[in-house]
Amino acid sequence: MEFQNLGLEMLFIWQAKTYFSQFKIRGSRKSEFVLREMENRGQSFSVLNCIDLSSPDIHKSVSLLKQACLDSGFFYVINHGISQEFMDEVFAQSKRFFTLPLSEKMKHLRNEKHRGYTPVLDEVLDPENQVNGDYKEGYYIGVEVPEHDPKSEKPFYGPNVWPAADRLPEWRQTMEKFHQEALEVAKAVARIIALALDLERDFFDKPEMLGDPIATLRLLHYEGGNQIEGQISDPLKGIYGAGAHSDYGLITLLATDDVLGLQICKDKDARPQTWEYVAPLKGAFIVNLGDMLERWSNCIFKSTLHRVLVHGPERYSIAYFVEPSHDCLVECLPTCKSDKNPPKFPPVKCGTYLTQRYKDTHADLNLYTKHQA
Ligand code: OGA
Ligand code: NI
Repeated sequence: MEFQNLGLEMLFIWQAKTYFSQFKIRGSRKSEFVLREMENRGQSFSVLNCIDLSSPDIHKSVSLLKQACLDSGFFYVINHGISQEFMDEVFAQSKRFFTLPLSEKMKHLRNEKHRGYTPVLDEVLDPENQVNGDYKEGYYIGVEVPEHDPKSEKPFYGPNVWPAADRLPEWRQTMEKFHQEALEVAKAVARIIALALDLERDFFDKPEMLGDPIATLRLLHYEGGNQIEGQISDPLKGIYGAGAHSDYGLITLLATDDVLGLQICKDKDARPQTWEYVAPLKGAFIVNLGDMLERWSNCIFKSTLHRVLVHGPERYSIAYFVEPSHDCLVECLPTCKSDKNPPKFPPVKCGTYLTQRYKDTHADLNLYTKHQA
């Protein structure tokens, strides 16, 4: 994608995006107009279904979600119960961490339990198409399990890495509260997914599933063009905020600021691939399905390729990755197989699957020790 007249282009995108997010849900003429305008300029947007978690019409929610899962694997969730004020606070605290000097941030470098800070280029999500790694920095926060708890022997459980309270007061409380609240949102979405797959409403609530989940909050910061380590994305040169990937788990809840950047590709096998922007929607979560759900549902529900382009301004987002417990066996759901459609994947333990996926995409931690030596 070429951005020759970046300033104007950005201004246009900004305005169109604001209109678009406002009117898209109602499907008004204005949204159609903006969509067409964007398309005329070679910028296409994906129109996503919007699931209102406060709606009493569960049939409607199930049908909207099912349609979204069969089509793009992405949808918005609104009225999810987390207040806008609190969301703003989480973003403000995230910004407070990322504006610390790099030397300070590196003191919180992620450990082998996948907790803590991940610097720019730590992750390479799409090695085939990326020259370096992702131009983003992040911070992983998982389920807090004390060191002496036998559960902490599992790969994704253990104590979190927390910034010093005197440096960032309220930080830990804010993140822990968000972690808990987001899990409730995820469970509510999973109930609708269960119904859409003709399962019992509480299928994913079982103790070995979301009763004891691996749920990881990840604060993300895309530095953009004006920072020391940041870079403006250029797909022709293999430079991305986040390379093309699908998420590993069951679902991901994503909150973003209002800077455009996320793109999805509905058909990963098409050549050339077509990428569409997902407009930020204030107060909403953008939800997408992960690879584990694709396996579980025997590809009835697909995980969708997505990536992030950074066009200039910095961008903040918060991802919440939801996976079942370590020992949960992810095997073809009873409603997703038949004689004509046998299971496409062998059963796999959630912990084993995730460990491999993280290993494939993140830098070896020894790299940093060598660097410091
Ligand atoms: C991710 C991701 C998108 C974003 O972290 O897996 O896709 O907008 N993030 O930051
Ligand atoms: Ni992702």
